[in-house]
This record gives sequence, structure tokens and C-alpha cells, in this order.
Amino acid sequence: MISKKKKISIIDVARVAGVSPATVSRVLNKTARVSPELSGRVISAVKELNYVPDPFAHGMRTKRTKTIGLIISDITNPFFPELARGAADCISSSGYSLILCNTDAEPRKEKEYAQLLLNKGIDGLMFTSLRVGVENIRSIMDEGIPCILAGRKTDDIKGLNHVVTDNYKGGCIAGGYLFKLGHRRFLHVSGPLDNSTGKERLAGFLDTLREYGVDERDITIINGDFTMKGGYESAEKILTLKPYPSAIFFANDAMAIGALQKFWEERIDIPEVFSIIGFDNVRISALIAPPLTTVSQEIYEIGRLSAEILIKIIEGERGENIILEPKLIERRSCRCTG
Ligand code: RIB
Repeated sequence: MISKKKKISIIDVARVAGVSPATVSRVLNKTARVSPELSGRVISAVKELNYVPDPFAHGMRTKRTKTIGLIISDITNPFFPELARGAADCISSSGYSLILCNTDAEPRKEKEYAQLLLNKGIDGLMFTSLRVGVENIRSIMDEGIPCILAGRKTDDIKGLNHVVTDNYKGGCIAGGYLFKLGHRRFLHVSGPLDNSTGKERLAGFLDTLREYGVDERDITIINGDFTMKGGYESAEKILTLKPYPSAIFFANDAMAIGALQKFWEERIDIPEVFSIIGFDNVRISALIAPPLTTVSQEIYEIGRLSAEILIKIIEGERGENIILEPKLIERRSCRCTG
């Protein structure tokens, strides 16, 4: 569990005392007058639970550090620098500082960084995945440290706001576009299917192809991991298939770019042999050969809006959830079969 004082939180004290966490905070921090009766109940609950107020969390509530942490999983995926740029611009123009941590998508590193950021006294924390664990995010929020999820969403943590693209719709756009170009044999290299993003892109793609009457046997799925290396490896697998699919939807641009490298090494003509569509519209997608057709998400805005909402919560306002629209960006990596 990520916490300065393990388990017992101000929320527990509030529950036992039958008061709000804010009242517990007022009593313990002596920041406002509280009736002797309520104050007595809080003190008893503190004793009963053996609650030791967290000096760091105390600092959070009374003396802000004006620092926000952002945990990303893969700095080599161009999606994350653009998201971080949006967050950083908002954070600095609001008078805060940003600490950025890269976790290589390893849950252990994600937890270590979250703990490190807490120890540094951050005012709020931006997550871009749930690898740190739902329980840990809950306990951080219970400590009174506002958190937000940027580019992912979950229903498992009450009160955790998100800014995310409509990934299901994005999957539908990719499927519909490839079908209308005349393709009838499809392959999807998915993102990790333990997160909302990977699942929804896959679901949108499959539902759309089914609606068009595409036979399941004409749809192949390879499980991917959102990395360029994973994309390269998926291309190795694709080249062993017989017959080849004619259209491939990569669940993000990073994997599509990794695959394009392998196809280039093998002198596979794109889009003659495979039509390829990605997801994200990272800047480099327009610069490679062939320029990548993709489903764009407003990456900078995901970062900027997430930071903006987080700062609002830190400053005592209500948070909100935002769903952004995906959009098709047509370039040169897909061809019409007709
Ligand atoms: O985890 C990385 C991926 O998730 C990005 O490439 C982007 O697609 C995001 O939603």
C-alpha cells in the first residue's frame, strides 16, 4: 500500500468519529474552531485507531509545495512527451512545478515513483495508467492528495477524474475506414487488454467489422503492448501468416512505426501489400515513409486538461471527466482495393 502511515487514514478516523474528514483535519491541524463535543469524538477516534497524522499529508493540507507529479509509462512513445508538454504548459502557467517520472510500464517502478513523489510533498498526482494499482491510488486519494487519470479511465476508483479519448469510437473509425476502402481480411495489433484503452479500441474495431458482415475468420488479433519493439515483433508474426491480411489496425502509432521498420527491412511495399492505420497521430507519424494514416487523439489537450482539472481540485474546486473526440487523419499508408 502506498501511504506514509499505512492503512489508517483520516477517512477512517472521520468514519469512527462520525464526522467529515474536513472536521478531523480542522481538529488535528487546529485550523478552525470545532465544538468541544465534536473535537472530543475526533480525539477518541484517533486514540482508538492509533492514528498517527502523516506529517507529509499534514503539509499537503496546510502548506502547499506547488508541485505536481506526472507518472508516464514509456518516454520513448512520442505520445507521452506531447501529453507531458500539455500538462507542463498548464502547470507552469498556473504557478506550479512538474516532476516527471518514467516507469517503463513496470508496476514496481510505478509504485516506487508514486511513493517518492509523495515523500517529496507533491500537491497532486497525474497517472497515465493504473499499473500502480487501484488500491494504491485509492489510498493516496484518502490521504487527501488529489489524483487524475490522463488518457485512461476506470470505474473502479470513486472520485478519480479522467480525460480520455472516445477509444471505442476511434476503433469504429479505423474499422469503417478500412472496410470502405474495400478490404476484407483484417488484422488488429491490440494494446494491452487489461486497460480500458486497449479493450475499447479492439471492441470498436470488431463491432464495426461485424456490422459490415465481415466473417470472424477474416479477422486476426495479435496482442500487442503499445511499444515500438512490440510493433516490430508483431510484424515478424504477421509475415508468417498465410494468407496475409490486407488491412492492419495498430492500436497505437508507436506499434505501427515499429512494424513499418520491419516491413521496410523485408522490402514489403506499404500500402501495396498491407494497408496500415495507427492510433494517436503523434507528430512523427506525418514524417515517416509512407506517412501514416491514423486515428488522432488530442494528445496535448489530454495533458493540458488533466493538469487544469487537477489544479482545480487542489485549489478546492470540483473535478470533472472529459471525453475527447477521435478523428481520422488520412495520409499514405492505406490504399483502396477497388
Ligand atoms: O500507453 C500508451 C498508449 O496509450 C498511447 O500510445 C496512446 O495510444 C494511449 O492512449
